[in-house]
Amino acid sequence: MCELLSSACFFYWGSLLNKITTIDNIPTGEMKSFIIKDKEILVANVDGNFFAMDNRCSHMGGKLSEGTLDGDIVVCPRHGSRFNIKTGEAVQGPKILVIRLSTKKLNTYPIKIQEKDIMIDL
Ligand code: FES
Repeated sequence: MCELLSSACFFYWGSLLNKITTIDNIPTGEMKSFIIKDKEILVANVDGNFFAMDNRCSHMGGKLSEGTLDGDIVVCPRHGSRFNIKTGEAVQGPKILVIRLSTKKLNTYPIKIQEKDIMIDL
C-alpha cells in the first residue's frame, strides 16, 4: 500500500520534519510505503519502534513494501535480497537461479514520534 503524504510539516531542532502517518496505522511487525518529496519510503514497526528506508530494492527496484518483514529484516519480493531496516545494509543479496549476488545498501531516514504522529526527517 502506498499513501501520498499530507502537507503537514514541522520544524524540529533545526530540521524539517514531515508527518507520514500515525502509529496506529502501522501495527507491530508490519510495514507500509509512502511517497514523501517524490521519494518512495518504507516505514516499518519493529517491536513498537519505527524505522524508515528506501522502498525500492537496490538490485532491480523491487517494491520492498510488497515483500515481507522478518524481525528487522525486509525481504525483497523479487529475488529475495534482505535488508536491515535499521541500517539499510544488504545482509543478503539477490538469488538468480543458483547464484547469490551482492547488492548495495539502502538509505535510511530518521524517524521521530510526536504524540501519535510518525515524523520523518527528509
Ligand atoms: S529486485 Fe530486489 S532482489 Fe532483485
